[in-house]
Amino acid sequence: MKRLEVSGVDERKVVEKLLSAFADEWIAAYYYTLTAYSIKGNLSEEIAEHFLKEAEDEIRHARMIADRLQDFDIDPPREFTKLWELSGCKYPPIPEDPYDIDGWIKAAVEAERCAIKAYKELYDLTHGYDPVTEELAEDLLRDEVHHETMLRNLLSKEAAKKL
Ligand SMILES: [Fe+2]
Ligand SMILES: [Fe+2]
Repeated sequence: MKRLEVSGVDERKVVEKLLSAFADEWIAAYYYTLTAYSIKGNLSEEIAEHFLKEAEDEIRHARMIADRLQDFDIDPPREFTKLWELSGCKYPPIPEDPYDIDGWIKAAVEAERCAIKAYKELYDLTHGYDPVTEELAEDLLRDEVHHETMLRNLLSKEAAKKL
């Protein structure tokens, strides 16, 4: 462990949060891909494209987190089921109805909000102590805020008003 890099902060807590975020990113990437292939109806193709692009972003995020975990000598979990266990956000319930596009988007907005909260916490935890993780948290936070905005903008007027 490179303890010199992290001073005054519980390294275990940082690693725990990174692992939890790593899992959230994979889960979001999976559900965004699922959404892209499941939704049907008006504008569904355009919205599916959007979800696939965000899924790519989430995988990129997972890799950024994995890179940082390597600095702590931590490899990604070997068991895929472990990801769900580690995940801090899980994923909100998705609609049964593939035509309920607003419902699918709303689940994604909630997932982004959970990620925003998690990266704020990671930022607060590392701020002033672990500049490398702090900067990572800031970069990820910026992306997730952007995702949340883009997803909200995909909602129908009625659904956006209720959010
Ligand atoms: Fe992400
Ligand atoms: Fe995101």
